[in-house]
Amino acid sequence: MLTLKKKIAALLSDAVAKNYGEGLLTADDLFAMLEYPPDKTLGDIALPCFRLSKVARRSPVMIADTLAASISDPALSAVTAVNGYLNFKIATGEFTRRVIADVLEKGDRYGSPMCGVGKTVVIDYSSPNVAKPFHIGHLGSTVIGHSLKLLHQFAGYNCIGINYLGDWGTQFGKLIVAFRDWGSKEEIEQKGVDGLVALYVRINNAIGAEEKASVEAQIAAGVPEEEAQRHKHSALADRARAESHKLEEGDKENLALWRWFVDISLAEYQKTYRLLGITFDSYKGESFYNDKMPAQVQKLRDLGLLEIDNGASIVRLDRWNMPVCLILRSDGSTLYPTRDIAAAYYRYETYHFDKAIYVTAAQQSLHFAQWFKVVELMGYPWYDRLVHVPYGTVSVNGSKLATRTGNVILLRDLFAEAIRRVSEITKEKHPDPQECAEIAEKVGVGAVIFYYLSNNRMRDIDFVMEDALSFEGNSGPYAQYTYARCCSILEKAPETADGVTDGEASPEEFDLAKTLSLFPEQVAQALADYEPSVVTRYILDLCAAFNRFYHECKIVSCPDEKIRARRLALTRATKQVLATALHLICLQSPEKI
Ligand code: ARG
Repeated sequence: MLTLKKKIAALLSDAVAKNYGEGLLTADDLFAMLEYPPDKTLGDIALPCFRLSKVARRSPVMIADTLAASISDPALSAVTAVNGYLNFKIATGEFTRRVIADVLEKGDRYGSPMCGVGKTVVIDYSSPNVAKPFHIGHLGSTVIGHSLKLLHQFAGYNCIGINYLGDWGTQFGKLIVAFRDWGSKEEIEQKGVDGLVALYVRINNAIGAEEKASVEAQIAAGVPEEEAQRHKHSALADRARAESHKLEEGDKENLALWRWFVDISLAEYQKTYRLLGITFDSYKGESFYNDKMPAQVQKLRDLGLLEIDNGASIVRLDRWNMPVCLILRSDGSTLYPTRDIAAAYYRYETYHFDKAIYVTAAQQSLHFAQWFKVVELMGYPWYDRLVHVPYGTVSVNGSKLATRTGNVILLRDLFAEAIRRVSEITKEKHPDPQECAEIAEKVGVGAVIFYYLSNNRMRDIDFVMEDALSFEGNSGPYAQYTYARCCSILEKAPETADGVTDGEASPEEFDLAKTLSLFPEQVAQALADYEPSVVTRYILDLCAAFNRFYHECKIVSCPDEKIRARRLALTRATKQVLATALHLICLQSPEKI
């Protein structure tokens, strides 16, 4: 469609020059003004003449009439003027043939904007916190992040996917104490990350109980409640802090335990990543930046950006209407922004990125806005290459998730449930257990991802498994089923696309060709907005157009040789574009379902 739009813009620019004089609007201006009319019966492409009316000093109705009379081209079957709009109808046969040829010639490169060639993008995504549950809240970062990586790869970027593991922090002091008091090596080896999470929850509860008891004891001794709260105390928490401190100082035993906790957690996350087909290029987590922060803190100090406030080191951001950015606590320990600044610096030095993308929940938007500003103040020339991509919250069947009360849905369980339910359906059609399991996995995993990526990322979503798995609705299984339908048609008629005719196409063929031709624009849009859901919605449009075509047109059994060839070629082109589009949102395309 882009090619045709460019052609129309060139025709328009000539016609405008001829009728109203040179230099009013460029072909690029006119290109940007072209629209797809919502009512397709009027035309396939339209030009609203209101802006032109200002520069040409005539009414839009007059302009549309004049231009309609002076434009004609074999690629267009009609050019008409309606109420100040100029409507273009496309010559269906030639257009359909050209779209098919374009898709089949470019193959899996069809739709790529190629805007990233020679450029590098680093994408920080998924990044779960070690020894804490990898739950449905991480689904967004994981699948939006991976889809953005695939989209950038498709556009020709050199992509570095980074899993910035939350592998450092006070939770490790707590885990070390909990493990020594209550844990055993065998148990953790057997239970994996679940065992670690159980220890973590247990020690948090125990600390809470000790603190509560200490407050109650103080109140009983006559201390006012507020003051008692301020002086609450837990011996376990003290021990955890001491172990944390030892770990930071490089204590050998604590370091070994820490490494082991990280490895156990990672092994568990890997299972989910493998299921989703996700691999990372770097697993450098928070701990990697321990020795890289002092240089950044010193630079902030040298630049006079640091201020001491109540003993803490901060950067003031009130001029930008933001709260202060905390760099060092009063005890000298570093914080989340400090680490992110050091990590961005390291990544720039290592990869010389043209763009660095961070995919996290929208709750972290302020954090990113703050440290992005700090990096700008530090004078790093790459400050404007940083992009935060936030997303909304997820609830399941209407209930909000809370890590603290244990009301979490693990990603692992979510996918397992989807796979189990799909295999109930597929096992009837696929008696071979191996084949059934493979299909159920692709469809079950795909259903969850597709459902999640159906909405604009900032929308809060409620996960309803029945909807995600529905074969009838606008779901992943429906899209994959449409792909499998293309495969089965082509299996019946495996000849190539030779002899595709230029003769007029049926409305369904033409509509399908038009939808196929819109793919490159949709990919560009998804990239520009960091919005994989643009691709998901496009897939649904394409499936709808294909299924209308399938129901209305004879394909394999079409008696006319040339039309049959065109319909088969359309099916092949649809199969190609569906496979590419599904891949871009992290879905597989099984040939059979
Ligand atoms: N580990 C963090 C979390 O689970 C996400 C890290 C995002 N990346 C970053 N560079 N801050 O909330």
